[in-house]
Amino acid sequence: MRKSINIFISIIMVAGLVSCNDGGQKKGKRGAQGGLATNAAERVYVAPGELDEYYAFMSGGFSGQLAVYGLPSGRLLKVLPVFSQNPENGWGYSEETKPMLNTSFGFVPWDDSHHPDISQTNGVLDGRWVFINGNNTPRIARIDLKNFKTEEILEIPNSAGNHSSSFITENTEYVVAGTRFSVPIPQKDMSIKDYKGNFKGSLTFIKVDQETGRMNIKFQLMMPGFNYDLSHPGRDKSHGWFFFTTYNTEEAHSLLEVNASQNDKDFIAAVNWKVIEEYVNNGGGTKVPAKYAHNILDENTHTATSTMLDEVLTVNPMDVPGAVYFLPTPKSPHGCDVDPTGEYIVGNGKLSADLTVHSFTKMLDAIEKKKFDGEAYGIPILNFEDILAGVVKQPGLGPLHTEFDDKGNAYTTFFISSEVVKWKVGTWEVLDRQPVFYSVGHGMIPGGNSRKPFGKYFIALNKITKDRYLPTGPELTQSAQLFDISGEKMELLLDFPTIGEPHYAAAIPASMIAPNSRKIYKLAENKHPYAALTDGDVKVVRDGKEVHIYMNMIRSHFNPDNIEGVKVGDKVFFHITNHEQDFDVPHGFAVIGANNAELLVVPGATETLVWEPKQVGVWPFYCTDFCSALHQEMQGYVRVSPA
Ligand code: CUA
Repeated sequence: MRKSINIFISIIMVAGLVSCNDGGQKKGKRGAQGGLATNAAERVYVAPGELDEYYAFMSGGFSGQLAVYGLPSGRLLKVLPVFSQNPENGWGYSEETKPMLNTSFGFVPWDDSHHPDISQTNGVLDGRWVFINGNNTPRIARIDLKNFKTEEILEIPNSAGNHSSSFITENTEYVVAGTRFSVPIPQKDMSIKDYKGNFKGSLTFIKVDQETGRMNIKFQLMMPGFNYDLSHPGRDKSHGWFFFTTYNTEEAHSLLEVNASQNDKDFIAAVNWKVIEEYVNNGGGTKVPAKYAHNILDENTHTATSTMLDEVLTVNPMDVPGAVYFLPTPKSPHGCDVDPTGEYIVGNGKLSADLTVHSFTKMLDAIEKKKFDGEAYGIPILNFEDILAGVVKQPGLGPLHTEFDDKGNAYTTFFISSEVVKWKVGTWEVLDRQPVFYSVGHGMIPGGNSRKPFGKYFIALNKITKDRYLPTGPELTQSAQLFDISGEKMELLLDFPTIGEPHYAAAIPASMIAPNSRKIYKLAENKHPYAALTDGDVKVVRDGKEVHIYMNMIRSHFNPDNIEGVKVGDKVFFHITNHEQDFDVPHGFAVIGANNAELLVVPGATETLVWEPKQVGVWPFYCTDFCSALHQEMQGYVRVSPA
């Protein structure tokens, strides 16, 4: 065991040297070395006035947000606020959106977003919603692609490190989450040394309402404390199954490599969720106390409500025969990826030089014959040889993730040797390889998570960008690299910087959502309790120390624009309704000395900013979003008198 660790460390060191050598090449030569296509510029150039072909939704990592890029240009189109407050549009600052960031731990205005996944129907992208996980304070968010807005955030109880999320089944029946850190469930005060056998992992299956998209936890599968890293739904023939990698079958409580990399093989957990669903529908499972928040942004009032739930249905895999099996997989597998036919399950053993591919058919066969190689906590372990479909021999070092195109090829990212390797599904032969700069994590092909990938582009989501951009101090931007994969050889087209850390991404042809994305709120349907829908609704109402200002705005004035009757020590609520009904005319609102942010109010909506004036005087407020030639005239005053 010691030996394999030493080999691994040597590998890292060699890889480091390789990187340094590449990094030291002369300026201008580097791109060509990375397989840069000769007419790359032409192939990513989107002329002024033209639109990109794909929307790419890229996780913002430790920014907690989701970024929208256009492909192939790599242009950043928008940062969608999800788990973090966003002063740019008041997300998490306005009274309407604050409840979206509520959790059982209180108001948590930050998270670490990792894996976006686009909703599917019959295994094909349908462009309704994007789901993304919050890794730190376990949450899953749903963004509605009608208006590119986070409409729902569900906290995941009995979880810690919500990493194997948020992947969806092929009709969006479920969005699935899994715990990276095993913990005491329920949480309690106990010795960390007693981890083994006592800490647990949970795999959470969240039912998605097909009309509204609303999420509700259907059940939580209580698993041994093996650390569930990534997951992937079965599709087509394996629809009904879900696969999760584990990387700590040793159940070590301190993950120095010595502890957690002892076992030659860890497991992929194969979960038959249809069997469990049936069990639960027939009254199976145990309700246990669990505190977690469910936050929903109401479409009619544009206001979020946060509900604290208090119990969850748990399922012990032992109680449901045929529900869970373990697939031995070398060696600390990270990504777990299923090919578009649903037959092949790729275990990306990150400390392995080979890539193991399991066969779904062989797995079913072994299960039927009850050919097991022992069990772990009562869960049958299948025999490695029985389920093996093939091995991609020594394709690179440190495989992390695999994506698929529409021609039967797979593309695996290798972190240590810093490259992407294209190989043939079924023959396991390596077809091509391209270096990436540097150290790629996930890769992404539009629709690569579905039955129908759009195999034109591959994006490498890189972790380290040494020497690729103008330096900006020790905090360098992270980076994506776009490859054209339509031909036999991958061709590098473009580097582009990303926000936060680009963990994973999901992309869809623009034609599948763009027509829907022009939704506006109709003023007549605004049900916000403080909306000033007509000038007759405009008023200033005092209620003790609270002052509620019912205000509206339209190019290019506020009504009212002169406010009196406010005193130092008051809590002033500016409830502002945007009367515009043109698709793209938001107005902003800012007032001097506010200790939160501005508001950006979209047409037809009402948003509320709280202001607690500290100083006597006549103070200005103004529109922050350039809206017309008279934008500068869009201003007003509020008079603050002594308390
Ligand atoms: Cu309204 Cu600028």
